Amino acid sequence: MEKYIIDGGVKLKGKIRAQSAKNAVLPLLAASILTDEQVKIRNMPVINDVENMLRILSEVGCKIKRQKDCAVIDSSNAVSHEIPARLTKELRSSVFMLGSVLTRFHRAKISYPGGCDIGLRPIDLHLAGLKRLGVKIVEKDGYIHCEADRLIGGEILLDFPSVGATENIVLAAVRAEGITVIRNAAKEPEIIDLQNFLNAMGAKIRGAGGGTIVVEGVRRLHGVEYTPIGDRIEAGTYLIATATCGGEIEVQGVFPENIAALLHKLRENGCKIHIKNDKIYLTSDGNLKSVNLVETMPFPGFPTDMQAQYAALCCTARGSTLIVENLFETRYRYAAELKKMGADITVRDRSALIRGVERLHGACVTAGDLRGGAALVIACLKAEGRSNVMDISHIDRGYADFEGKLKRLGAKIRRVKG
Ligand code: EPZ
Repeated sequence: MEKYIIDGGVKLKGKIRAQSAKNAVLPLLAASILTDEQVKIRNMPVINDVENMLRILSEVGCKIKRQKDCAVIDSSNAVSHEIPARLTKELRSSVFMLGSVLTRFHRAKISYPGGCDIGLRPIDLHLAGLKRLGVKIVEKDGYIHCEADRLIGGEILLDFPSVGATENIVLAAVRAEGITVIRNAAKEPEIIDLQNFLNAMGAKIRGAGGGTIVVEGVRRLHGVEYTPIGDRIEAGTYLIATATCGGEIEVQGVFPENIAALLHKLRENGCKIHIKNDKIYLTSDGNLKSVNLVETMPFPGFPTDMQAQYAALCCTARGSTLIVENLFETRYRYAAELKKMGADITVRDRSALIRGVERLHGACVTAGDLRGGAALVIACLKAEGRSNVMDISHIDRGYADFEGKLKRLGAKIRRVKG
C-alpha cells in the first residue's frame, strides 16, 4: 500500500503537458481488435487502467509490443471471445470490449462489471443497444452471454447519453450489415476521437460530438497509427489545483473547448485565464470567491469527473457552493475525508453544500476512488501542515506521474511505500 506525504501551503507554478486521454485510449484499445492488421497507438499514458486493458487484449490472444511511449497491437491471432472475469472486476471499462469482441467473433462472454466506488454503473443501455443490432443476450450465473450470427444495422435511441453505451454500440455497428443510427448519443470529445480512429481504419461514421451518430457498416477495417486526444480531466485537475493553491500554470495538449465548462467556473471564482492555440494559461491568488451552484451534466456541461476536484477548491473559497451530482449515485465519498481537514461540507443524496472556511489543516486521509483521490491531494496541497493520502493506487489508475508533475509545479509531495 503506498501513500503520499504532502506539505501544504505552497503556491504552484509551471507548465504541464496533458497525457493522452484515459477515456479515449480505453475504447481505442477495445477497437484495435476490429482489424487483424497492426494498430499503433502513440503517447500511451502509463496508468493502471490502460495496463489492465492491455492485459485483457493479451488474454483474448492479441500480441502487444511496447515501443517507447507507443503500443502496437496485433490481434491477428486473437481467439477468445471471453473477457476474463477478474480483469472485468478490475476495470469497468472492459465492458467496451463487448461491442468489438462481438464484431470480431460474433459472440462474447463477459462477467457483470461490478458497481464501483461511484455508483451502481448498470449496463442496461449497452445491452439494449446491442439487442437492436441483432445480438441475442442471455444473462446467467453473473455472466452475460452474447451471440450474433449476423450484426444488422438499426435505429437506437438511448434513454440517457451514456458514454460507454454509445461507444459499445459504435464498436458493434462499425462492421454490421447496413446503417445504424444512434440518437441521444453521448457528445464527449472521446467519442469524436473514437470516430476519427475508426474512420482512419476505413470505417464510415459521422456525427460524433452531436446528438446523432450514423454508422455505415463496412466489410473490413485496416491497421492504423494514431495519436489520441489530450486528457481534459487530467488537465482540469492541474488547473483546479493551481486555482486552489494560488500560482500560475500553462497547460498544453488539450483543446480548450473540451473543458470550457470548468474554465467558465474558474473565471467566476476569480482566476485569470487566457487561451492561445492549445495552451491554457491560468493565474490565481489562491483567495477565490465561491460560485453558488455547480451541476454536473453530460458533455458539454460541467463534467462529473471534475466534481470532486472542484469540491476541494470550494472548501476554502469565500462563500457557499451547492454541488449537484446528476450522473452518479455516490460520488461524494471524499467529503468525509475533507471534513477531517476542517472542511464544512453537508451531503444529502446527490447534493453537497460546501461552506468556505478560512483554512484547511493537514490530516491523514484515504482515497476511495480515482477522482476523489485527486481531490484529496488538491486539498492537502492547500492545507496548512503535513498530510498523508493513503490508498493512492486509486490515483494511479488515471494519472500518469501525478506526484512528478506536481513536484515540477513546486508542490512538496512524495510517494512512500508501506
Ligand atoms: C464514462 O463512464 C467514463 N469512463 C467515466 O469516467 C465518466 O464519469 C462517465 O463516462 C460520464 O462522463 C470511461 O470513459 C472509461 P456513462 P461510463 O455510461 O461510460 C448511467 C473517470 O473518472 N447508465 O456515461 O460508465 C450510469 O449509471 C470515469 O475517468 C445507465 O443507467 O458512464 C450513470 O448514471 C469515472 N445504464 C450515467 O448513465 C447504462 O447502461 C453515466 O454513465 C449505462 C450508464
